[in-house]
Amino acid sequence: MNTMNDVLSIKQARTQHPIHSLLRDRWSARAFNGELLSEEELMTLFEAASWAPSSMNEQPWRYHYAHRGSPGFDRLWDALLPGNQAWTRNAAALVAVVGKKQFERNGAPNESWMHDAGMANANLLIQATSMGIHGHLLGGFEPGPVHELLGLDLENEAVACLLALGRLGEIEQLEEPFRSRELAGRERRPLTSTVKHITNG
Ligand SMILES: Cc1cc2nc3c(=O)[nH]c(=O)nc-3n(C[C@H](O)[C@H](O)[C@H](O)COP(=O)(O)O)c2cc1C
Repeated sequence: MNTMNDVLSIKQARTQHPIHSLLRDRWSARAFNGELLSEEELMTLFEAASWAPSSMNEQPWRYHYAHRGSPGFDRLWDALLPGNQAWTRNAAALVAVVGKKQFERNGAPNESWMHDAGMANANLLIQATSMGIHGHLLGGFEPGPVHELLGLDLENEAVACLLALGRLGEIEQLEEPFRSRELAGRERRPLTSTVKHITNG
């Protein structure tokens, strides 16, 4: 039997260079314990998100959240693809990350909206890690029901992704293949394949 501490250790990033422990210890968890998060905890996460940088300080992100046990949670959960539904039942909250695609000041297209929503999500996840809360971003959902639930203006708004939040639960509760995924180490390609030093010019 694998304990929660085993998983915390397995999921720590094995880095080539030392990084901050909050970055090392974040991962996309699946085994949630079913406990709700308080409004204050959630607002702290959204506060952290809101301090992300964004093009022209537009802050194109919007967060729509629902606590587990509420009709909003159930409708977001219904929109998830089956492979994501299996392990999100015990999440404390589901969040829809919505982006505004146009600048408020002049209606011009904001090419950075998705990038900037990602910046905000990164802030949120690192804040969550510092609070012992785990987040898992989700691209696997049917957009139609989410648009309908949130009443989005699709000319100007789009769902960047969904996000499951919660505290860690027992790994044994997970069905396969999710249990094995939760017990697998995290992988990244080597930095040499990502980083190029510009030496010409
Ligand atoms: C935009 C986005 C969409 C994602 N969609 C899903 C998803 O639908 N289901 C899932 O299990 N994980 C999803 N993930 C999580 C990634 O698979 C995960 O971040 C990646 O494998 C790296 O693992 P780590 O976050 O644990 O380091 C998504 C991540 C992002 C950023």
